[in-house]
Amino acid sequence: MKGVISSTLAQPDIFTMTRQILVTSALPYANGSIHLGHLVEYVQTDTWVRAMRLAGHQVYYVCADDAHGTPIMLKAREEGISPEALIERVGEEHRRDFEDFHIAFNHYHSTHSEENRHFSEHIYRSLRTGGHIDQRTISQAWDPIEGLFLPDRFIRGTCPRCKALDQYGDNCESCGATYEPTDLIDAVSALSGTPPETRESVHFFVKLSHFEPMLSEWTGSGRLQSEVTNKLQEWFTTGLMDWDISRDAPYFGFEIPDQPGKYFYVWLDAPIGYMASFKHLCDRDGLDFDAFWDRDSKAELYHFIGKDILYFHTLFWPAMLSAGGFRTPSAVYAHGFLTVNGQKMSKSRGTFITARAYLNHFDPDYLRYYFVAKLNSRVEDIDLNLEDFVQRVNSDLVGKLVNIASRCAGFIEKTFDSRLGPRLDNPELYDRFASYGKTVTERYESREFSRAVREIMALADEANQYINDRQPWVLAREGGRAEELHAICSQGINLFRVLASYLAPALPALTDRIERFLKTTISRPGDWERLVEPLLDHDISPFETLLKRIETQAIDAMTNDTNQPATDADQPAPAPDHEPFEDEITIDDFSKIDLRVARVVHAQQVEGADKLLQLTLDLGGTERNVFAGIKSAYEPDALIGRLVIVVANLAPRKMRFGVSQGMVLAAGPGGTDIWLLSPDTGATPGTRVR
Ligand code: MSP
Ligand code: ZN
Repeated sequence: MKGVISSTLAQPDIFTMTRQILVTSALPYANGSIHLGHLVEYVQTDTWVRAMRLAGHQVYYVCADDAHGTPIMLKAREEGISPEALIERVGEEHRRDFEDFHIAFNHYHSTHSEENRHFSEHIYRSLRTGGHIDQRTISQAWDPIEGLFLPDRFIRGTCPRCKALDQYGDNCESCGATYEPTDLIDAVSALSGTPPETRESVHFFVKLSHFEPMLSEWTGSGRLQSEVTNKLQEWFTTGLMDWDISRDAPYFGFEIPDQPGKYFYVWLDAPIGYMASFKHLCDRDGLDFDAFWDRDSKAELYHFIGKDILYFHTLFWPAMLSAGGFRTPSAVYAHGFLTVNGQKMSKSRGTFITARAYLNHFDPDYLRYYFVAKLNSRVEDIDLNLEDFVQRVNSDLVGKLVNIASRCAGFIEKTFDSRLGPRLDNPELYDRFASYGKTVTERYESREFSRAVREIMALADEANQYINDRQPWVLAREGGRAEELHAICSQGINLFRVLASYLAPALPALTDRIERFLKTTISRPGDWERLVEPLLDHDISPFETLLKRIETQAIDAMTNDTNQPATDADQPAPAPDHEPFEDEITIDDFSKIDLRVARVVHAQQVEGADKLLQLTLDLGGTERNVFAGIKSAYEPDALIGRLVIVVANLAPRKMRFGVSQGMVLAAGPGGTDIWLLSPDTGATPGTRVR
């Protein structure tokens, strides 16, 4: 009997049981500012978290700065401060940016923390005990001037495949080849400009292939987006490669236990930072950490990330968790990348917009709304078109949503003493709005945000149409039918309340103002369910502007802010001495063009081409095949031996006659008047022209 009672008591009541959910966004690196690209992710996650909380679930949302690695160490060196001081300062800046965008983390931590060291060591030891770590000597590039091993990104040289100059150590931006830094021709350290030496050192590798059965089970069970599953299939087919998790001193990170001078690679402890941040929260607020991380945890765990870091989250991370004896994620949700005005964000175009530059000019909710209106559950890139942004926010939020309230509020205030009436004019219409609540919950949970916004805005159109049809202003002017006028305006305010509540997860600041206006909450757990009851016989506040229209000039002001050349920030920028060109480029753009001296070693006609000659150019050790449109002015033989200037880092172009690997500079009106730009006859092929 006793047993029965206690087991009954121990049973959670499944009808009132709320889901326990832990959510993360990727941890931003602590060496740069938060920018609008990052915000796609934090806005997506935060909106999802707010929606799930509104739906009544218990949701914890944690994040942290990703504080380790060579770039952070070098940045601190450059500033002449310690890495600890750097990550402290950047951490503060990040926290302020997130707070001002109303990203509602329960806790924001740092990977440079004791909790993180603890879990990193635990997972590493489990991997080692399980026999999943190999030790191998590898040779690596060493910068003798700076005194450190160079990450691939810090080595530059000529691509071994297409011969494009000044490429990264791991891949060529020109032809897309991937290779080892040791394959680069004429490699130099990007830090000191000297050729790196090769040094040997012992590294530790995780045998990822040991986890293949576990991973193919985990990835195949509906936790990932279908396009991600397909990508993973490719990775499985090519075979899971060993993962190098160690780096040599000097490095900013955690030293590997019992391995002096060896450090965990930043990507080992980065995802563990999710646990560390949550652990800190648990210790602070008395939460049960194990209930979320035990192997048999009933809680849900979701990671929101960008598409560039899938490999780490869908292969390494679940393998590490499983080795460490922890549960694996319930799902990983990847989003695409942000472009601004259709292009990669660029400093010179003023479209590399930091969170702070945006906040200096705009309400955070504008951007949140714009992103939410564009995001869906797939891994698609999204574009922030600045004109479309102004137009979309003004027309949807100001013109449709807030308009519903502003058209009715005045009458309630002046004629009815700021009190909503005892009945609605059209209860069926209200019920239809309220019954969409179930669907909106599903849309948010499945991350079909843009669809939710479309449906909510269609309802906003209906609400405005209703007000147009009922013309409260005519009733007010004519006088006499006060009760009807009251019911119509109360209807309008109630429809507004429902729609504002549906959008609340996306628009926290506006929601605050609306809650003050309506003198009720629309964004708290259970509020969506409460929408079935309209607000009647209820006082509201006098109407004040809830949201201002965006002025187009503010966009220019922001991009001007962002478009800062590297001048002293305190000096007024010098006045331009000419009207800017339409397609003006900066000196930085220009300096990207790699001009080299080349000698024509061979020249010939191209069969079937009217304008082209085919040239073989010697760039000082490397040869290039280039097609030049100079046939009308030159005989091939007259060119052999001549020095010319070529654009050496032009992406190779596939032409009808073959691939052209550069461009020869020439000037003139055309025909027989095309003059090749030639350097001094004493110039050496391969020399850079400045
Ligand atoms: N520190 C790693 C993540 C470690 S997670 C254990 C990192 N940091 S990051 O600062 O480069 O990026 C943080 C997140 O922002 C990533 O999910 C990344 O995909 C995302 N984005 C960075 N630039 C972005 C865009 N331009 N557009 C959309 N998301 C972008 O990666
Ligand atoms: Zn190449």
